[in-house]
Amino acid sequence: MVNKTILITGGAGYIGSHTAVELIQAGYKTVIVDNLYNASLGAVDAIGEITSTEPIFYKGDCTDSQFLKKVFTENKIDAVIHFAGYKAVGESVKKPLAYYKNNLDSTITLLEGMKEFGCTKFVFSSSATVYLDENVVKYNEKTTKTNRPFSPYGTTKLVQEYILQDTALGEEFESVGGLQVVSLRYFNPIGAHSSGNLGEDPNGIPNNLAPYITQVAVGKLDSLPIFGADYSTPDGTPLRDYIHVVDLAKGHLAGLDYVFKQSGKFFDPINLGAGKPVSVFEVIASFEKAVGQKIPYKIVERRAGDLPEFFADCAKAKEVLGFETKLDLDSMTADSWHWQKTHPNGFSK
Ligand code: NAD
Ligand code: UFG
Repeated sequence: MVNKTILITGGAGYIGSHTAVELIQAGYKTVIVDNLYNASLGAVDAIGEITSTEPIFYKGDCTDSQFLKKVFTENKIDAVIHFAGYKAVGESVKKPLAYYKNNLDSTITLLEGMKEFGCTKFVFSSSATVYLDENVVKYNEKTTKTNRPFSPYGTTKLVQEYILQDTALGEEFESVGGLQVVSLRYFNPIGAHSSGNLGEDPNGIPNNLAPYITQVAVGKLDSLPIFGADYSTPDGTPLRDYIHVVDLAKGHLAGLDYVFKQSGKFFDPINLGAGKPVSVFEVIASFEKAVGQKIPYKIVERRAGDLPEFFADCAKAKEVLGFETKLDLDSMTADSWHWQKTHPNGFSK
């Protein structure tokens, strides 16, 4: 048993729930907070079933300071992993205000609560979107951040990083010993828990590749639209760095260990990817092996904002976190399929 309590905001969501499982199994006490905007209680139940524990769960909003005060008062929180936020790139273009308000306000309100309760360890869910640059394909943490992400969602990630960095380096946390932040920049998380009981459960028609494919495979959607096969890549489809969500979850344990070793004013960004560019056709081929049948697809127009290729330089994660991914593309697609096949309607029966 690790004698530490971790607050997981957005812990009923896709990445947060997988991280909760890994933390509980590693002996941490966890407190999960989620407003269930994009998640359901079924995920909390699944965390409990997989870990044979009764998860501590609070339904509430990270923009609500009184709610956070209650959580911090009732639990002695040693560190926060902040997943809570809106994440749909396309929706953010249509509803920028909602995205700026929710994502920025959550982070600010959470930081204020942490300061009040003397909690100084922060692990942040950032994204490769802070880099997106047409002229660079392999991003390392020194790659210049874009000053204009492709979407309001991306801008919220960039601005949240600045809020965290400025707060870590400013004076407001000095009275409690300084704020220590590690900002984990995820590439493309896919996959599900190997039990088949926890996975991605998007609302409506999925925006992302893997859940779209599994919904085609399970018969909920007719065929996959491939957003362009005329890129200057080996097979014409874009290359991405897919990382198994369980590897990603384990990266958060490494991130926590790292942040617990720091003191004073500290902010450090670290990529979490597999470091291997993979094409859309390669993802489809891997799913076809897992499912045992062809995935129908149709090549359509390019999607606005898609880049031909980007992937992570993983050297820093290896060096400072001792973190390397273990699960390959076939495990990602097999686990996604296992989850979808056994839960065609996600957490709702
Ligand atoms: P998700 O939507 O499954 O999880 C986010 C959770 O936060 C949801 O359960 C939602 O209900 C909750 N939430 C949203 N606003 C809240 C608020 N104000 N208060 C309390 N709860 C709130 O998304 P995910 O894929 O698990 O992503 C987790 C984090 O990782 C997000 O911050 C996302 O931006 C970031 N991220 C995700 C990806 C990806 O491809 N999935 C890539 C890079 C970064
Ligand atoms: N794709 C299709 N058809 C689909 C869905 C996706 O062909 O129905 C293609 C896309 O064109 C892209 C690849 O599959 O080439 C991956 O697309 P995703 O939507 O799954 O992922 P993205 O790389 O576009 O986006 C991810 C995260 C975002 C983040 C972005 C940049 O989902 O949160 O990386 O870091 F902002």
